[in-house]
Amino acid sequence: MGSLTMNASTQTAAGSRVVMTETIKANNPAAHAAGDQRSAGTTMAIEDVTLRYGDANGVLALDDVSLKVAKNEFCVIVGPSGCGKSSLLYLAAGLNDATSGRIKVDGREVIEPGPDRGMVFQSYTLFPWLTVRANIEYGPKRKGLPPEQRRQIVDQYLNEVGLAPFADHYPAQLSGGMKQRVAIARALANDPAVLLMDEPFGALDSQTRGTMQKLLLRVWERQQKTVLFVTHDIDEALVLGDRVLVMTARPGKIKAEVKVDIPRPRSMDVILEPDFIALKRRILGLLHDEIDEDH
Ligand SMILES: Nc1ncnc2c1ncn2[C@@H]1O[C@H](COP(=O)(O)OP(=O)(O)O)[C@@H](O)[C@H]1O
Ligand SMILES: [Mg+2]
Repeated sequence: MGSLTMNASTQTAAGSRVVMTETIKANNPAAHAAGDQRSAGTTMAIEDVTLRYGDANGVLALDDVSLKVAKNEFCVIVGPSGCGKSSLLYLAAGLNDATSGRIKVDGREVIEPGPDRGMVFQSYTLFPWLTVRANIEYGPKRKGLPPEQRRQIVDQYLNEVGLAPFADHYPAQLSGGMKQRVAIARALANDPAVLLMDEPFGALDSQTRGTMQKLLLRVWERQQKTVLFVTHDIDEALVLGDRVLVMTARPGKIKAEVKVDIPRPRSMDVILEPDFIALKRRILGLLHDEIDEDH
């Protein structure tokens, strides 16, 4: 395994381009030339995106998907297994190309990975040969920030995710939850415009998952980040999100949008409240229709 092939994209089926975000120079001039078409408050715009894998007879994974994520919004996508959620996040990350349509971040068209999009995926994507500190420092170092500034950034995010005592540990010495905390810190250290998260807590036990959700909410509330988060767990979607987009079975389309008008900060006990249960029932109904139609 070459040093740059240990990466997010090799670890799921959806990515066809084997690169790591940080290995690619950001902000291709051609993308800038597309001009700043920022509409008020929109950080990410997915416009009429269709994705077919392979040739004209290949799998139609996404069919005319459009959505916008507002600045500082926590937007969650749920959908049946295989509906194209990961495929959509891969396109947003710039790890694969849409068959048609486009994706813009702050008005610039996505054509390749870049530090304006931080990624946290389910499979751990840390560099095993680097310490926690060096993993988090990787992006700021590639940006050419001076050592003192890098140290401040790393210390800030180490504290933010509660891993300061583990700065000199290697990933193999950490639990699954801790590795994902490093992955979050590493993504944030690049100060991305949008954080793309694909079932980041899916491999964790339920208790650790709850802890991670709390941690992510705390970080998001403090850092004011824009998040596009994929999950198949409705409780997770409603605990975290400002808005939940429900996708159809494959080919994935956006079927419904559910606003989550539950006050913040939200405790984990929110799942017991009538408003929460009503929203959950609505989303479950939307998803059940999809799963029934699929069979
Ligand atoms: N690289 C690929 N080549 C061909 N088909 C793929 C590839 N990646 C995913 N698919 C197919 O596209 C569909 C959507 O996959 P995916 O985006 O992983 O769904 P989800 O994340 O919602 O479970 C699935 O039917 C899957 O088998
Ligand atoms: Mg997936």
